[in-house]
Amino acid sequence: MPSLDRNKLSLLLHAEEQLFHKDHPVSYGLYQRARKSLHGGVPMLWMIRWAGSFPVFVKAARGAHFTDVDGNDYIDFCLGDTGAMTGHSPDATVKAIREQIEKGITLMLPYEDVIWVGEELQRRFKLPFWQFALTATDANRFVLRMARMITGRPKILVFNYCYHGTVDETFITLDEEGAPISRPNNMGPQIDPVHTTKVIEFNDVAALETALSAGDVAAVLAEPVMTNIGIIHPEAGFHEKLREITRRTGTLLIIDETHTICAGPGGYTAAHGLQPDFLTLGKPLAGGVPAAIYGFTEEVSKAFNEKLALDDADVGGIGGTLAGNALSIAAMKATLQNVLTDEFYAQAAKLQEYFTAGVEGVIREFNLPWIVKRLGNRSEYWFRPTPPKNGGEAHAAIDVELDRYMHLYALNRGILMTPFHNMALISPATTQADVDHHTKVFREAVQSLFG
Ligand SMILES: Cc1ncc(COP(=O)(O)O)c(C=O)c1O
Repeated sequence: MPSLDRNKLSLLLHAEEQLFHKDHPVSYGLYQRARKSLHGGVPMLWMIRWAGSFPVFVKAARGAHFTDVDGNDYIDFCLGDTGAMTGHSPDATVKAIREQIEKGITLMLPYEDVIWVGEELQRRFKLPFWQFALTATDANRFVLRMARMITGRPKILVFNYCYHGTVDETFITLDEEGAPISRPNNMGPQIDPVHTTKVIEFNDVAALETALSAGDVAAVLAEPVMTNIGIIHPEAGFHEKLREITRRTGTLLIIDETHTICAGPGGYTAAHGLQPDFLTLGKPLAGGVPAAIYGFTEEVSKAFNEKLALDDADVGGIGGTLAGNALSIAAMKATLQNVLTDEFYAQAAKLQEYFTAGVEGVIREFNLPWIVKRLGNRSEYWFRPTPPKNGGEAHAAIDVELDRYMHLYALNRGILMTPFHNMALISPATTQADVDHHTKVFREAVQSLFG
């Protein structure tokens, strides 16, 4: 098996950085200007985490491609980290947005369309009651409040290296001895999450049993397949155990489908018959217009109603003035009806299999100790020979320099991968030619390192 020459990697990375500078002079100029008014030169902190030393400024995006201000064209496999999994500005969503804009954008009153959306969510996810938010973060915050209110229990439980948005209680990890600590660089927490949250490794049934047996956990908040530290599949029987133990201990189960909606039209939940008490989802629901949802069971709805003081519903910690606004509902209806369809999922999963086969072919050709993991229309490559079983193992496999090189090599050749790991999503507009280009560039990158 070939080993990675770190000196060579450093030199190659330096050369890619120079190439990036040469090919992006207009972006560079804009970045310098942006730094004078925007903290870090970007509107949102994450945008400085790309592989180039400054962000690419976008001129226009449509379907699976975008162009930058320097005239470079890119295939977008990042797709707004799932926010644009529908492809950029899908026709049906754009049409609905245009029509709705003429009829009002936000009112704090419902239009009839919202009932269609509620019924469609019932059909897809098999949960009877729904509420709307603007971001998946908010959806998660709100259901955590509901869960604590209903159960009267103070704590929540999450899996090591999860990500559920900027939800304060979730920024907790396990240290090398397996003790819970506030996640490194947790910015100004109101309270140390070790007081609010239990954290265990994914797939660890024994730890789950112990953590929930104390009866002080209101809810487990989980992605059904971990995605934010890379794709980590549940082991056989894990979800059955998770459901059985949560039920037995009176703990509510929240399944966050924000990324795993890549697994099918009803997410991983519908595809695998999970039975959560709550389900949350945001990002691609409205084709990129801010929109999120949270659904729950009849029992949760009843228990919540019994404790809810309607007169104070607007100041109880669940809200968002713009939540359920007419524009996002119209966009959500059009997107669910026309874009995130059964046909899309079937076709995208097939193309993703083709993507994965291309990458695996290169890995085999060069005999690399790397693997590719896939979930529906999402995949990513890992610089380790076996799939990690949990977040701790996955985190230990991160190779920052190699990761940066693979991203930048791709970016310099017209391919955008998701910045926090080597993840690729297939949209309705992604073509076989787009995938072939990725396979070719991936092979060239590997050749430059190991050839
Ligand atoms: C699983 C999961 N849940 C929730 C969120 C939060 O989404 P948002 O940042 O749109 O609120 C994310 C964001 O990456 C996520 O990956």
